[in-house]
Amino acid sequence: MSRIVLGIESSCDETGVGLVRLADDGTVELLADEVASSVEQHARFGGVVPEVASRAHLEAMVPTAERAFAKAGLTLSDVDAIAVTAGPGLAGALLVGVAAAKAYAAALDVPLYGVNHLAGHIAVDTLQHGPLPKPCLALLVSGGHSQLLRVDDVASGIVELGSTVDDAAGEAYDKVARLLGLPYPGGPPIDKAAADGNPEAIAFPRGMTGPRDAKFDFSFSGLKTAVARWVEGARRRGEEIPVADVAASFQEAVADVLTAKAVRAATESGIGTLVISGGVAANSRLSALAAQRCAEAGIELRVPRPRLCTDNGAMIAALGAHVVAAGRKPSGLDISANPALPV
Ligand code: KG4
Ligand code: ZN
Repeated sequence: MSRIVLGIESSCDETGVGLVRLADDGTVELLADEVASSVEQHARFGGVVPEVASRAHLEAMVPTAERAFAKAGLTLSDVDAIAVTAGPGLAGALLVGVAAAKAYAAALDVPLYGVNHLAGHIAVDTLQHGPLPKPCLALLVSGGHSQLLRVDDVASGIVELGSTVDDAAGEAYDKVARLLGLPYPGGPPIDKAAADGNPEAIAFPRGMTGPRDAKFDFSFSGLKTAVARWVEGARRRGEEIPVADVAASFQEAVADVLTAKAVRAATESGIGTLVISGGVAANSRLSALAAQRCAEAGIELRVPRPRLCTDNGAMIAALGAHVVAAGRKPSGLDISANPALPV
């Protein structure tokens, strides 16, 4: 008998509620994926304001859930299990989702599973491309994370190979966009501006690629500073900023480092599949360069569609389904949020 899993996500600025069907053979089908974003409320601050995000989650949680059930043609009583993001993320924001999930689980008397947000970003790919090969490699790049992960089992076995030592990749996009006078979040406008620019116009640094640097860690703050210096220099000289060239050159540096390290990690570990997820996976140059380098190295590349790459409830429902299928013990109603939850 198939089971319906409800997924609740509230780790950052997106209130997400997803519903999936877990079939007896382990396949997971997406039924609904409703997201309410508070991104516009944060735009004028140039980044997510935790208190504003928490309040927005409170207001959006129940209406978002109601929309998801309506879309799926289901009612609360159809739910067999609930998964919620327990971390990592913003403490106050996480608490809203955890409280909602507990309330639903208690009222419906169904098992509750606290799950890891990062694992959710990987599990979501199974909704589009089917079961993940074991092992596979995941490159997670968003406003909050930049990690290279070895995935032996998305429900229980993820090992971090490397992560950013400073800014996340998306954060670098957001900061550079601000320098160039482009709106927040910065990824989409930089991607757009870069289309008309020359990626070789400015040789920006490739962070953490020296012989003594940790092989699979990333660093983007030096790149951001280099862009800031370059832009300041041009302004001082009274020159007009060639926004398209700066955007294209910055974007090339980010895509170069991310894809080079991911392909190297896959090759050295003998892993044949790379999954790229998180908001930055939507970047046109990152996916193009990853496709080219993976093809050269004989690696299968899987990139979920942009809607699934950014934070959403479907990724948590999908991970919940894999956790249920793996027979994990439910978390119980006393779970709490853990802002620093490791993978
Ligand atoms: O996964 P996500 O929606 O939320 C977090 O968990 O952070 O990722 C948001 C980040 C933002 O920093 C945004 O600038 C970036 O993803 N982003 C992009 C693109 N679209 C979104 N970065 C580069 N190119 C894009 N096309
Ligand atoms: Zn995320």
